[in-house]
Amino acid sequence: MRNSRFSVLSIRFVIVLSALVSWMSPLASSAQPAVDENPLSTSAISGPYKDLPVNQGVWNGGQAALWDLNIIDFYKYFGPQQRARGFKPEQPIKFNHIIHVQKNGMECQYCHWSVAKSSYAAIPEVDACMGCHKFVLGSNDQYKAEIAKIAEYAQKGEPIPWVKVHVMPQHVNFNHKRHVKAGVGCQECHGVVPNMAQVERVSSMKMGWCIDCHRERGTSIDCYTCHR
Ligand code: HEC
Ligand code: HEC
Ligand code: HEC
Ligand code: HEC
Ligand code: HEC
Repeated sequence: MRNSRFSVLSIRFVIVLSALVSWMSPLASSAQPAVDENPLSTSAISGPYKDLPVNQGVWNGGQAALWDLNIIDFYKYFGPQQRARGFKPEQPIKFNHIIHVQKNGMECQYCHWSVAKSSYAAIPEVDACMGCHKFVLGSNDQYKAEIAKIAEYAQKGEPIPWVKVHVMPQHVNFNHKRHVKAGVGCQECHGVVPNMAQVERVSSMKMGWCIDCHRERGTSIDCYTCHR
């Protein structure tokens, strides 16, 4: 008796709830700007990256090693935010890797040309952007507005003040060239950047995370390898 009354009640509850949800969902979808969805969800994008989550293939899921005391990403709660997993700053220009890498088929090293040559990964100069964007002015208003900002910086002769997404503390010595030459993929540390409309830090990049891979690959874990 009790049981059946209970289930009738819960069925009503479900019906009311689903009615509510279906009433609210058009509100939710109309709240999103239409332009934003346009290039990203179209059939124009296909191939190996299309359905991958952004943290696919990241070393150890971006988590510090189990034995590491820093297993909890405390920066996430206490800061600094820019050293925590999930850091995803607004950029001065809405640069989109999906459009450039997937839709236009550009290689990472076309823009980040120094990764295999030096310790740091270069971010392209305004002039390199202008090489294309003198001609590519944008196919909709949102793009036009963003691309116009590039020309402004070029005219003023100022570099674009990009916000750094991956920040190592001063005492850590990191080297791109060594990793790239050793065949460690960008994806193992940065995730599926080709699928990021806005770059996000997908790994804690804690000491234990670095060392875990160094152990596995038989590379030095000497303190002086990574610390100055
Ligand atoms: C058209 C040029 C261009 C191409 C091609 C490109 N990038 Fe970028 N990338 C940028 C610019 C500009 C920024 C800085 C703005 C930002 O963070 O979105 C950036 C930022 C980044 C960052 C964050 C750097 C930081 O601040 O810590 C990573 C990581 C990155 N790119 C990886 C890649 C990878 C991996 C590829 C290839 C799959 C790639 N990029 C292809 C231009 C490019
Ligand atoms: C090889 C040519 C090429 C280079 C180099 C290039 N872009 Fe683009 N970019 C494009 C194309 C093509 C589009 C798509 C335009 C469209 O669909 O309307 C685009 C779109 C954009 C957009 C509008 C879409 C959005 O994300 O809001 C911005 C902003 C942009 N690029 C910024 C940059 C910046 C900054 C650089 C330099 C780091 C750069 N681009 C370098 C070809 C290039
Ligand atoms: C072993 C891990 C690892 C790999 C592999 C790796 N990166 Fe990085 N990347 C980092 C770290 C750590 C930083 C932050 C460096 C710092 O702040 O000193 C960084 C920073 C960057 C930056 C910001 C500029 C800079 O040098 O600080 C860009 C752009 C970038 N990486 C692109 C790439 C690209 C493109 C590839 C592949 C060709 C790649 N990275 C491979 C770990 C990695
Ligand atoms: C996915 C695996 C992987 C991760 C993650 C990784 N590394 Fe490495 N690292 C390597 C490999 C492989 C080499 C060996 C390169 C060689 O033999 O030249 C290397 C080499 C290095 C070197 C040069 C070593 C030398 O002998 O000069 C430094 C410095 C370094 N890593 C720092 C770091 C730091 C700091 C981090 C974390 C932010 C990190 N690595 C994360 C795989 C990794
Ligand atoms: C493979 C690279 C690597 C090696 C080897 C390494 N460290 Fe680190 N270490 C790091 C990184 C990266 C950080 C910064 C992590 C973060 O953002 O908190 C760090 C941070 C630290 C810190 C600051 C506290 C903390 O955990 O953030 C201390 C202290 C430290 N390391 C000591 C050592 C000592 C002692 C050794 C030798 C036994 C060593 N490290 C070896 C990469 C390394």
